[in-house]
Amino acid sequence: MKILVVNGPNMNLLGIREPKIYGPRSYEELCSYIKKLEPECELFQSNHEGDIIDKIQSAIGSFEGIVINPAGYTHTSVAIADALSAVGIPAVEVHLSDVNSREDFRKLSFVRPVCEKTFMGRGFESYADAINYLKEAHS
Ligand code: DQA
Repeated sequence: MKILVVNGPNMNLLGIREPKIYGPRSYEELCSYIKKLEPECELFQSNHEGDIIDKIQSAIGSFEGIVINPAGYTHTSVAIADALSAVGIPAVEVHLSDVNSREDFRKLSFVRPVCEKTFMGRGFESYADAINYLKEAHS
């Protein structure tokens, strides 16, 4: 199944950023972990909201599913939620940490209503849960 995996701002600093929350492994390790699960997938990371939106738009006709960790934009971006809605590709929200048990501002997700599922709090396994869900539900 052709899946686009999108990671938002600061995800490139995994391993360095707050390892007690996000774990000791790097973004490159996350990419290898995901590639092993789904070799056909494409991985994209950006610190820029517009670039994330451009990437989601470019998925039309090329991808059958989107796994997205919008990182900090989860809690702020109507525009990323609108892009997911516009392309109409089945999307799943993921987070390494359990955003519901952290600060109150992390409990709000703009993308959740336009995603079929949310997996969180399981580190890298959250991505495996999302990929497995898409494969079971849509391939
Ligand atoms: C995150 C949770 C967000 O609240 C935070 O801003 C991130 C990472 C996670 O994967 O746990 O950057 O999406």
